[in-house]
Amino acid sequence: MKKHIIDFEIVENRPIHSLYSLLVMRPVNTTLPSVILPGQFVEVAVENSPGTFLRRPISVNNVDRENNTLWLLIRRAGKGTAAMMEKRPGEKLNLVMPLGNGFTMPESTQSALLVGGGVGVAPMLYFGHEMKRRGLTPEFLLGARSKADLLQLDEFEKIGPVHISTDDGSAGEPGIVTTNSVLSSHWDRIYCCGPLPMMKAVAREARRIGAECEVSLENMMACGLGACLCCVEPTVKGNVCVCTEGPVFNINQLTWQD
Ligand code: FES
Repeated sequence: MKKHIIDFEIVENRPIHSLYSLLVMRPVNTTLPSVILPGQFVEVAVENSPGTFLRRPISVNNVDRENNTLWLLIRRAGKGTAAMMEKRPGEKLNLVMPLGNGFTMPESTQSALLVGGGVGVAPMLYFGHEMKRRGLTPEFLLGARSKADLLQLDEFEKIGPVHISTDDGSAGEPGIVTTNSVLSSHWDRIYCCGPLPMMKAVAREARRIGAECEVSLENMMACGLGACLCCVEPTVKGNVCVCTEGPVFNINQLTWQD
């Protein structure tokens, strides 16, 4: 798939939590690439910021073709993401995109559960929108420490049913997503993005109920183009770069057979 290097102008920087901001941005003097798959990511250059020489990989959170805008959900994780969160409307960011592969769209007759934890909810919003656009009805399972930590809940509720797990029980079922009762229902396909232990536990449950399962790995990345080899993941076919062969993998490709 063709990759583009595009300057974007920030249209809106919406703080949605003490640790997260939603950047809504529009390409300068052009339109968004015609194909952006749910699950793909971008590499963001953070200029004029000490210690941010490398671009930062960020999942595509949403693509709004009507308004020609791209949404990126930024979690404050270090200097680069902190600098991004300080961007104000009118300021610019340079992106390389779209990168990586995407989730496999379910068949029209298949049920699908999209599971997200923490910033792992980001790709699930765009995936849900694309499924709905094709006449599918995705359901979501979102996990957070507490009700106040649930991200973009109102956006997910516009797409389909949302199931919730919170550690403190302040919303949805108490506990973690892997103990949520909805996970053990019948699903043809389960998709997951979040902390590694969560994805492994969801993968185990998917195997137990016989669901196809894809996960989006969040390995450390630098170049995003298969050149630096810092994102390597062992698979049943040997080591592969997550940035080019992933970030989405069917769990049967991974060495998570426990
Ligand atoms: Fe450089 Fe994957 S991030 S090879």
